[in-house]
Amino acid sequence: MRIDVLTLFPEMFEAPLKSSIVGRAIKQGYLDVGIVNYRDFAMNRHKTVDDTPFGGGAGMVLKPEPIFLAVESLRAKMTSSLTSTVSPKVILLSPQGRVFSQRVAEELASMDHIIFISGHYEGFDERIREHLVDDELSIGDYVLTGGELPALVVIDAVARLLPGVLGNEQSAVDDSFSQGLLEFPQYTKPSEFRGFKVPDVLLSGHHANIATWRRQQSLLVTWRKRPELLQFVPLDRQDKVFLETFGWKDNDSEPTD
Ligand code: ADE
Repeated sequence: MRIDVLTLFPEMFEAPLKSSIVGRAIKQGYLDVGIVNYRDFAMNRHKTVDDTPFGGGAGMVLKPEPIFLAVESLRAKMTSSLTSTVSPKVILLSPQGRVFSQRVAEELASMDHIIFISGHYEGFDERIREHLVDDELSIGDYVLTGGELPALVVIDAVARLLPGVLGNEQSAVDDSFSQGLLEFPQYTKPSEFRGFKVPDVLLSGHHANIATWRRQQSLLVTWRKRPELLQFVPLDRQDKVFLETFGWKDNDSEPTD
């Protein structure tokens, strides 16, 4: 997979793209990331990328030309190198976008090429949204100083889903959210620490019982911490009986008369 990021602050990407799992994914060739400073595509010799808003008001607005030119130059490079036949998906990062989630990460992980546009200042000239961008993503309902950290968040979540990137393939499957549930509690050695013991079932070596315990703990953690997530999870009879002992009620099976 290839990801290009358009930014005015390329240095913000240096350490995160070199470190940990994302760094390894890039080194091993599962992911190719290009960082483009769209100031390089500014039209005048002062390299101006923003200007005052028409109609007045505070702050500066990112001009369309440098961002259009940067995207077009990436598209042209891809076409001429014939590394990809599909056109890249252009995604703007902004608080106005649809909210990023594990489902969106899975959607993006199946793509060949994404171009992220990160902005700064008061915002983008609307023609960028209307005529250049395919999708707009927000990482949550708060306002950051720019789209760089959101781009890194999305790259991190997507990179770990690419086949081969996580050493143990199972870990992406067991993750919080991958089944729509939060992750079950994990323990490691020692089996007793300051009198605090690891649950016996995990030391039993009984794989079926461990799987049942983990499923039930995932259900319980989700019910206690993020109950609204449970409505999207298919629950079998055993799940429901377990959750009912903790006060959960199955609204679907209530009598309707
Ligand atoms: N730019 C500023 N805040 C943002 C957010 N919450 N998500 C995505 N991009 C942003």
